[in-house]
Amino acid sequence: MLEPALLSRHLIFITGKGGVGKTTVALALGQAAAASGRRTIVADLQGEGDAREEELAPGLMRVSIDPQSAMEEYLTVKVPSPAAQLLRQSHLFAAFAMATPGMRELLSIGKLWELAQPQRRTANAQAYDLVVVDAPASGHGAALLRAPRTFAEIARVGPIAHQARTIADTVSDPDFTAVVAATTAEEMPVTETLELRDSLRRGADPLDLHAVILNGRYPRRFSDGEAHALQALRDRSQTPAQLRQMLDAGLAEHARAHLQEQQEQRLMSAFPDAVITLPYLFEPALELPQLSLLAAELRAQIAGAGA
Ligand SMILES: Nc1ncnc2c1ncn2[C@@H]1O[C@H](COP(=O)(O)OP(=O)(O)O)[C@@H](O)[C@H]1O
Ligand SMILES: [Mg+2]
Repeated sequence: MLEPALLSRHLIFITGKGGVGKTTVALALGQAAAASGRRTIVADLQGEGDAREEELAPGLMRVSIDPQSAMEEYLTVKVPSPAAQLLRQSHLFAAFAMATPGMRELLSIGKLWELAQPQRRTANAQAYDLVVVDAPASGHGAALLRAPRTFAEIARVGPIAHQARTIADTVSDPDFTAVVAATTAEEMPVTETLELRDSLRRGADPLDLHAVILNGRYPRRFSDGEAHALQALRDRSQTPAQLRQMLDAGLAEHARAHLQEQQEQRLMSAFPDAVITLPYLFEPALELPQLSLLAAELRAQIAGAGA
């Protein structure tokens, strides 16, 4: 079987405006990849927990990264042990490193890079085919992606510059890395998606959005004609109050789907053939079964679009 190009990358960043469903989309994409046989880990940068790689489902792992423990790990692996010991124990060094602009981003992305290597530098760690990053919201997401190049340019020589350059080259290699925007079909998130595209294109190391995932699309339940008829019924004075409330609910949803359509059009014309649409799921919570539904939808559309 020909592997869909998106899922054959090694590092996929999901970014977008807060609350649009980045975490949901990252997990669903992770499931989609695992279902097509790729050993996958979904990594977030919330830094909760102890950076342990936990199994969510067969072939699908999850990890939460924070810059501080990424630094400790880096020192353990990279620096000769007495010096590392000293640095690890130095609160002053930690405070200094964390206050260096861009250092947190560099450490986080360095850890993501490490997860995506065929040979992990961490002892006994298993290799992954794919790392899906539940990245921070657009602005911070773009800063994260830019951190390695910025660092390499500032430091120029020495081991950090070298490491940063290696990471920057990996992130800008379209065979290795893809950046995907998540959005809902609303004005602000769509605007932010367009701004994200422009901001990624600027600078010495331009990146392109590989795809846009339009999440939470409402179903269109009525035609405009039907909506008109419902509105007329609603406005009749004989219509009982209870029925009127039901009609209001239906009409509000129709209005919402209609607004979403306009925003969807905006996306489609900005990103022809690169928009993947996920439905709004009317469920109290999204657990693994619901995520599997979204994952199946992603697989079908990725295969269909040749994305
Ligand atoms: N397609 C969807 N259908 C229904 N609810 C969704 C969908 N996508 C996300 N949600 C819900 O919306 C909320 C925000 O999603 P989340 O993935 O946490 O967003 P983000 O990570 O961008 O802040 C969560 O409660 C999530 O369960
Ligand atoms: Mg989230």
